[in-house]
Amino acid sequence: MTDTLAPTPKPGILDIAPYVGGKASIAGIAEPMKLSSNENSLGAGALAREAFAASLSKIHIYPDGHALKLRAGVADHYGLEPGRLIFGNGSDEVFALLNQVYLTAGDNVVVSQYGFLAYQISAKGCEAEVRQAPETNYKCDVEAMLALVDDRTRLVYISSPSNPTGSYNTGEEIRRLHAGLASNVILVVDEAYAEYVAAPDWETSLPLARDAANIVVTRTFSKIHGLGGLRIGFGYAPLAVCQAVDRIRLPFNVNCAGLEAALAALSDEAHQKASRDLVQTWLPRLTQAIRGFGFEVLPSVGNFILVIFPEEGRTASAANEHLMSRGIIVRAVGGYGLPNALRITIGTEDQNRAVLDALSEFAAG
Ligand SMILES: Cc1ncc(COP(=O)(O)O)c(C=O)c1O
Repeated sequence: MTDTLAPTPKPGILDIAPYVGGKASIAGIAEPMKLSSNENSLGAGALAREAFAASLSKIHIYPDGHALKLRAGVADHYGLEPGRLIFGNGSDEVFALLNQVYLTAGDNVVVSQYGFLAYQISAKGCEAEVRQAPETNYKCDVEAMLALVDDRTRLVYISSPSNPTGSYNTGEEIRRLHAGLASNVILVVDEAYAEYVAAPDWETSLPLARDAANIVVTRTFSKIHGLGGLRIGFGYAPLAVCQAVDRIRLPFNVNCAGLEAALAALSDEAHQKASRDLVQTWLPRLTQAIRGFGFEVLPSVGNFILVIFPEEGRTASAANEHLMSRGIIVRAVGGYGLPNALRITIGTEDQNRAVLDALSEFAAG
């Protein structure tokens, strides 16, 4: 008997463009410079590495499914209520959990035009519609976001700072966005790059979230703490949201080595300072130098810059090829609707100089 039936994914699944992470290798180059995923170019700090190594003797034991030690550490560090924290396998998992809890087919989420793609992928997996609000000058426009909200909107996602543009929204803009939402719509404020921001009018939305029944603020250990490989992020959410998420969260979603390393990283102020100082030194230098080569560089408050190349001649794809030929991997962002741009993570001094040399050669032809 021939059976032609095949397992069929839910509607919409095969329409989702797979997430393409930053490249990690270049054929023929043993140790390329990886500046493609906004990782911490100093790596993890000494305290996190020691805690990770110490966790080796306990890896046969399931992790604490409630992350109690890290929960207490994060609550203490940020002055938050421990019961209002959701830990995830990266903040990516927090977005996915929120989408899973609140979205059914026909609901929608509102995101910004160039917003981080992870929000959309899991929303589409819940058969929800993704509405993209146009940006003004590569920055999230809160009025454009509000214009897309309707009675089927369940979540609104904003990242500040935003990836891949490096722009941010002021506290006043985020309060305006929140004030325009009905109380049954969750506003998710993704602050993955918060620790790098030097702009005086940026502010964390953690205090705003404290008194709101519909705001979730997310943070990650993948950026300033240099623990992207261990996958730890968290959300600060209303208690009712945490309780709902806990119904579906996998019991051991966060691993034991990550829990230990993240807790140690929180107290490693020297590493956080060194990481911030490196970015704050090189962000303006790279921005100015690359502008001097004749390319547009968007103002950024994250640990990366977005460089925009001409549509013809010295294009982004030609620049990417040239950088790769010099052993440098950056991120093409065509998937974000930015085919003429490359996102470059701020590296170590040597890496940044290599980027400048390569782009200066490229500009000169
Ligand atoms: C804006 C933004 N949010 C969240 C994340 C994901 O972080 P995590 O490693 O915690 O999943 C990233 C990672 O690049 C990001 O750029």
